[in-house]
Amino acid sequence: MTLAKRILVGTGALLMAMIMAGPSQAAKIAISCGALGQELSLCREGVALWIAQTGHEVSVISTPNSSTDRLALYQQILAARSSDIDVFQIDEIWPGVLGHHFMDLTPVMGDATTRHFAATIGNNMQDGRLVAMPWFADAGVLYYRKDLLEKYDASVPETWQDLTETAARIQQAERAAGNDRMWGHVFQGRAYEGLNCNALEWVVSYNGGSVVEADGEISINNDKAKEAIAMATGWIGTITPDEVLGYAEEESRGVFQSGNSVFMRNWPYAWALLNAADSSVRGQVGVAALPKGGADGQSAATLGGGQLSVSKYSENPEIAADLVKFLTSRDEQKRRAIKGAFRPTIAGLYDDEEILAANPFFGDLYETFVHAVPRPSTVTGNKYNQVSHQFWQAVHAALSGEVAVEQTLENLDQNLHRIRDSGW
Ligand code: GLC
Repeated sequence: MTLAKRILVGTGALLMAMIMAGPSQAAKIAISCGALGQELSLCREGVALWIAQTGHEVSVISTPNSSTDRLALYQQILAARSSDIDVFQIDEIWPGVLGHHFMDLTPVMGDATTRHFAATIGNNMQDGRLVAMPWFADAGVLYYRKDLLEKYDASVPETWQDLTETAARIQQAERAAGNDRMWGHVFQGRAYEGLNCNALEWVVSYNGGSVVEADGEISINNDKAKEAIAMATGWIGTITPDEVLGYAEEESRGVFQSGNSVFMRNWPYAWALLNAADSSVRGQVGVAALPKGGADGQSAATLGGGQLSVSKYSENPEIAADLVKFLTSRDEQKRRAIKGAFRPTIAGLYDDEEILAANPFFGDLYETFVHAVPRPSTVTGNKYNQVSHQFWQAVHAALSGEVAVEQTLENLDQNLHRIRDSGW
């Protein structure tokens, strides 16, 4: 073979090798996504769009439904400084607990951050570093059966007292009519983070404070908070099944979606699924702000949400950050809002007609969403996880009848003071 021929053959082989290997800069990264309702499939679809644009490879890792279990898993992975997962979907309350494991996203996001709600960006700042980009915002809402309220000439409850009465009345009548599985109200009563979200709503709605106040004061041991927890304790076994003590979001949705509860407290994601083709309550569901704790009370929705962070231990941090930028972008947030009822964190999307047509309550409850109550995760910083364990244990003990309401709040107060002794 002549020299020229040899060069040609060599170049051809090299080219072929390059084509087979794909673009030379192609990387392989991993993202862990939540799996509540449609979360995982929406994440996979978003990732597929980014892959189509960039040619990188991504594995999508599913995590437990429960936020509490997901945090335990992340803590293990991150404590080991593992590079296995590049992008983490984190909860709104975790920047203080996990932030030190994540990259500062400010340089990559640039002015993309200015389009998001300032409070959400503020929530994700740790020592001047942006440790997560907002992906969706959550707030607790009340789902109700429009058809049942109409059938029994009942109105949407304004106070928890109204809810309790209406729930009991309809439950009784429906049971008498033959549906012996009918209940009045379901929520998230398992001993985990979701119970805190529910309990915070009850307590704030009675003007009982938000467990630990923004100035660090521990406020939970007060009469209003006792009234609120006592009210919920009274529901168990009357308008709410005992099993609620083991329910997270999906279990309560299961009961409501199969037609067996008049009311349900849940997050917006449930809306898309309640109205899906296979839902028994499709078209029969209304959404309202959560009730007030009595005439002097207020409606309170706990603030929640999901964010995306890039691990400091990632071997491809720039590529991982680009995926975060893509997934948190306007187009992706719009797609997730229409298909999954995930509320955008980009203010401009609240005027979007397609989003509002798919989720009319995004417009109706805008004020509720804007005033959603944060859990005390910023003030308690990396102690939040301990605080939150104490809160749900105390509330769960009251709901299950193990400890009297008064005693459980006293114990909680002492335990929170003990945690604060080493500072927050
Ligand atoms: C939802 C919220 C999150 C909350 C969790 C509790 O996923 O977005 O903030 O901690 O529910 O179960």
